[in-house]
Amino acid sequence: MLMVETINIDKRLRESSRIHEVDLKNIAFGRVYSDHMFCADYKDGKWQNFTIQPYEYLKFTPGAAVLHYAQSIFEGLKAYRADNGDILVFRPEMNFKRLNISAERMCIPTLPEEIFMGGLVELLKTDRHWVPDAPGTSLYIRPYIFATDEYIGIRPSDQYKFIIFTCPVGAYYSKPVKVKIETHYTRAAEGGTGFAKAAGNYAASLYPAKLAQQRGYDQLIWTDGKTHEYIEESGTMNVMFIIDDTLITPSTGDSVLKGITRDSILTLARSWGMKVEERKLSVKEVISAIREKRLVEAFGTGTAATIAHIELISHNDEEFVLPKSHEGSFSNRIANTLNDIKTGKAEDPYNWIMSI
Ligand code: COI
Repeated sequence: MLMVETINIDKRLRESSRIHEVDLKNIAFGRVYSDHMFCADYKDGKWQNFTIQPYEYLKFTPGAAVLHYAQSIFEGLKAYRADNGDILVFRPEMNFKRLNISAERMCIPTLPEEIFMGGLVELLKTDRHWVPDAPGTSLYIRPYIFATDEYIGIRPSDQYKFIIFTCPVGAYYSKPVKVKIETHYTRAAEGGTGFAKAAGNYAASLYPAKLAQQRGYDQLIWTDGKTHEYIEESGTMNVMFIIDDTLITPSTGDSVLKGITRDSILTLARSWGMKVEERKLSVKEVISAIREKRLVEAFGTGTAATIAHIELISHNDEEFVLPKSHEGSFSNRIANTLNDIKTGKAEDPYNWIMSI
């Protein structure tokens, strides 16, 4: 259990919940929003105005800096319903730390831990009935910060808004994904913002992803911006490959997001005695492993996506069908173990769970 200092939060709650409008057993990702949100403002050099209020439209100026120059960062984490009714949040302190790493890169003032954790805990207590319990569902939590100065000159904003809202969600990808290795467009360059959860990174990825989707692929696998020879990450996920008996994933550096699911899987795999390599991984090595039938499986990892099996990889207009996952596959075993930890069914040897 995390101990955090308390903050004073003003509460303006809905008179009645909208939850009866929602079928919590059948929910698409990111379409349904819980009753309330936590908000804070940064002005006069400090974070202030802590409120829990209904999830509703915001009022801000057309000149708001974020609308023009994307000075905005976000996080994604999940809460689960345990069998005993407790609300379990998975590794929130990792998201807190990463939010501030992103903040620094984007010239956004960092957020004190008591505001992130205090707001999160109070919001989850307020909307605890929104945490679904059907298998495969969870409450997705979206903390984000954006620049609100009314100013269209280029400079860091003086004012910001921090919001946390939540969405009950089902699977992000409902079936195994088909991916195209991107060797023309670049997601992130050395020295760029790839390691940060900066809104603009995702905006810039949309066009190449759209071209791939028009050709029937679900996502891209990005390669490095310099040579396009090394695998980096996928649009919404880190990527992992099992080649022979080794779990291999690209090292992170400054162009790959340090995924929390990625870290959790590597930690568990190592504890199981599996060979794990975080290193540069060339497209050539992956394609040779596929041709030589040494690639055992490939999957994406992320908070929203959890573990998404990759069924097909396209490279230079050649398509490679990958081995199907089965009950004994590493990706299935690790997905089940992680899910059991997240829902309180298995022990939590690394203290990943914050119980509310
Ligand atoms: C997450 O997995 O939480 C993400 O932030 C991916 C998002 C772009 C859907």
